[in-house]
Amino acid sequence: MLIEPLIRPMRAEDLERILEIEAVSFVSPWTWNHFKQELTKTYGRLRVAVIQKQISGYLMAWFIENELHIANLAVHPDYRCQGIAEKLVRNMLNEVPQCILATLEVRESNTAARNLYEKFGFGVVEIRKKYYEQEGEDALIMSKYFNPPNVLPFQNSRI
Ligand SMILES: CC(C)(COP(=O)(O)OP(=O)(O)OC[C@H]1O[C@@H](n2cnc3c(N)ncnc32)[C@H](O)[C@@H]1OP(=O)(O)O)[C@@H](O)C(=O)NCCC(=O)NCCS
Repeated sequence: MLIEPLIRPMRAEDLERILEIEAVSFVSPWTWNHFKQELTKTYGRLRVAVIQKQISGYLMAWFIENELHIANLAVHPDYRCQGIAEKLVRNMLNEVPQCILATLEVRESNTAARNLYEKFGFGVVEIRKKYYEQEGEDALIMSKYFNPPNVLPFQNSRI
């Protein structure tokens, strides 16, 4: 039986475990300093998923002017395919009901993440060619609007 994770804010004392998950999840993992800085940002929304006192995954987002940017998301390999990332994303979206637009960037080859975001209705809006220089891989920018078009964020702009 799968155990439901508890979602709570990330804390400085979580960083050791988070860096462990980072290391096994990404080719170019974020550093301690990077996460430390993120913890100080007023617009940062950092959440961890906890199962039986163990951090199984985390999501880091920025929420600025009704726009959400998902900057980092990972689940430890031992806990994947149990709905934890889905719960982290759902929880974050529920936290910001005033959100108009959510965006993120994902490697073209990252089928798992792309499927996850597509499940929430995100679509590819831009391709950044060879964005990941080391591997020469393209980045996909995915986004999702939450409100009807009459409340798009730029409705009052002059262009
Ligand atoms: C992407 C990642 C966060 C998914 O975490 P997870 O907890 O295993 O995902 P979930 O179990 O919540 O899966 C939710 C949906 O994502 C998709 N998905 C997840 N893993 C998948 C896989 N291995 N293959 C294909 N689709 C997958 C599916 O659509 C799935 O829905 P379904 O179960 O109804 O098919 C995880 O694989 C990971 O940490 N990868 C390395 C880091 C990374 O790529 N982060 C994203 C950066 S943008």
